[in-house]
Amino acid sequence: MKNPIDIAAEPSLFGRISLGHVVVQSRRLPDWQRFAHEGLGLQVDRVAGGLALRIDAHERRIVVEEGPAEDVTAIGWQLHDEHALPLLQRRLRTAGIDVGEAAPAEAAARGVERLWVFQGPKKLRFEFFTRPLLAGPPRLSASGFVTGALGLGHFAMTTREPEAALRFFQQVFDARLSDTIEDKLDGVTLELSFLRLNERHHTVALAATRGQRMNPLRTGIHHLNLQAASLDDVTTAYQRMRKLGFAISNAIGQHPNDREVSFYVASPSGFDVELGWNPIVVSDEAAWQPAHYQGISLWGHFPESLTLGSKLGRMGRGIASLTRKEYTVGAAA
Ligand SMILES: [Fe+2]
Repeated sequence: MKNPIDIAAEPSLFGRISLGHVVVQSRRLPDWQRFAHEGLGLQVDRVAGGLALRIDAHERRIVVEEGPAEDVTAIGWQLHDEHALPLLQRRLRTAGIDVGEAAPAEAAARGVERLWVFQGPKKLRFEFFTRPLLAGPPRLSASGFVTGALGLGHFAMTTREPEAALRFFQQVFDARLSDTIEDKLDGVTLELSFLRLNERHHTVALAATRGQRMNPLRTGIHHLNLQAASLDDVTTAYQRMRKLGFAISNAIGQHPNDREVSFYVASPSGFDVELGWNPIVVSDEAAWQPAHYQGISLWGHFPESLTLGSKLGRMGRGIASLTRKEYTVGAAA
């Protein structure tokens, strides 16, 4: 990355790290098979203990393990050069975060050569690797997905400790703030921070409620985003998902900050998958200025499947979350 700040300062992970994989635990493997293959158009392979989903040359990008959590159970980070590995390990040690190497069988289950593990924000298991196992081109019912140096996509998580989570990503991963959005949802003001780790406009979005910090979600993340190569991929997947009967959380719309055109569909494990097209990339670091936006969508993204029951469930969980302290990670927090 040609950034004057990087050259002057200590080595940075910026531009050398991306979202590598996501691990889900579910009892609904047949639903996941339909959702990912027939709905999203991904290659789905049956593997020992579950399903491996492919969108590019990586053998495994999303792993769905048979298990009770119905949630994302691990987020994997890819380091794009061998020097980034000791750098991240040093960062984690400095921050007082324990890191261990996973057993070879676990690395194989993620489709990587070697795998290291630590506990991330909200006790979400964070994993990292440098060398993915690669296979031939995936068999997709879509023209393709945008990955490479930009990584698998992005994810958004709700947090009641947004300052600590932001510090973690900035101090340990060298994340940069792309922009912020505020929006009102059911009378509550949501504040979102969008963090980039490379040219992808954001790899992580942190969402928090203003004032009383609540977390209305059962799942560890709100959504996982995949970037389709064409607008047709998005519109045809949207139609397939509706036909298959998967609940569309938000119909097609566009975000004001990264300008991505996308829709959100509820995965069989409850968190959403966002399928999007054509988000901007931050290719000129020196010129980028973080902006603040009102409203999460420029147009569209209408909630198609919000029932009173799901709204009440979210409110109840939001209020219950006030009584629990949220885990924050390491000395950085
Ligand atoms: Fe998103």
